[in-house]
Amino acid sequence: MIVFEPGKVVPAGNMYFIYGDGGTGKTSLSKLFKGNKAVLTFDGSYNALADTTDTTVIAFDNTDAPNLQRLVWRSVNKLINEEKYDFIMLDNVTALQNWVLENIDGASKDGRQNYQKLQLWFRDLGMLLRSSKKTVLATAHQIDNGSNGLDGKGRFEADMNAKTFNGFTAPFDVVGRIYKKDGQRLIDLDTENGNHAKNRLDERTLIKAEELFEPAEEEK
Ligand SMILES: Nc1ncnc2c1ncn2[C@@H]1O[C@H](COP(=O)(O)OP(=O)(O)OP(=O)(O)O)[C@@H](O)[C@H]1O
Ligand SMILES: [Mg+2]
Repeated sequence: MIVFEPGKVVPAGNMYFIYGDGGTGKTSLSKLFKGNKAVLTFDGSYNALADTTDTTVIAFDNTDAPNLQRLVWRSVNKLINEEKYDFIMLDNVTALQNWVLENIDGASKDGRQNYQKLQLWFRDLGMLLRSSKKTVLATAHQIDNGSNGLDGKGRFEADMNAKTFNGFTAPFDVVGRIYKKDGQRLIDLDTENGNHAKNRLDERTLIKAEELFEPAEEEK
């Protein structure tokens, strides 16, 4: 628990959750942030970061899988306490979730209880990241439910267990879907489209990917 005295509430770093199809530029989003960065990668897609000089990459693979919850918790805690990092990225939580679920399922066969454990672990991870006060970026794969109805609303969602998604993203300020259109990378933040999306930071509903962390001047 932290108590902020009246008039002394210190804003936490913003938290961004961006989901999208393969190759839409999720991993590369970290390059847009200016500062010292740490990227925890779970899907092996860190080649996009090969040309960076300001980013520590911690790549988890199947050798880490059996102890993944403990390793992730320890890594995040360590990064939180290292002042040199301004930014923590989890890339991507679909892969992380599937590994964690496999571990939980391996330990117990009670399916319903297992999903509950999964949800609680992710809720706690979300809160741990929030407590870091650093800028946080988490990514996920997307599910395309296909267009149904005339307006196609509610077509896209993050590829995660629904309650796990809700628990994890509760402290996030921004949830958006990244996609490519006419050679541009765009991020949909509009809750009205019926997809997973929110923007607690400003009024923007559709942005260029490059403007995720730094709104264009006229929009500030
Ligand atoms: N803003 C950008 N401008 C130009 N090229 C970009 C941009 N963002 C990403 N790319 C390029 O697009 C390709 C895919 O990017 P990236 O690996 O970041 O996508 P991803 O969504 O993380 O993919 P995956 O789902 O496979 O992990 C890379 O070759 C990357 O260099
Ligand atoms: Mg990637």
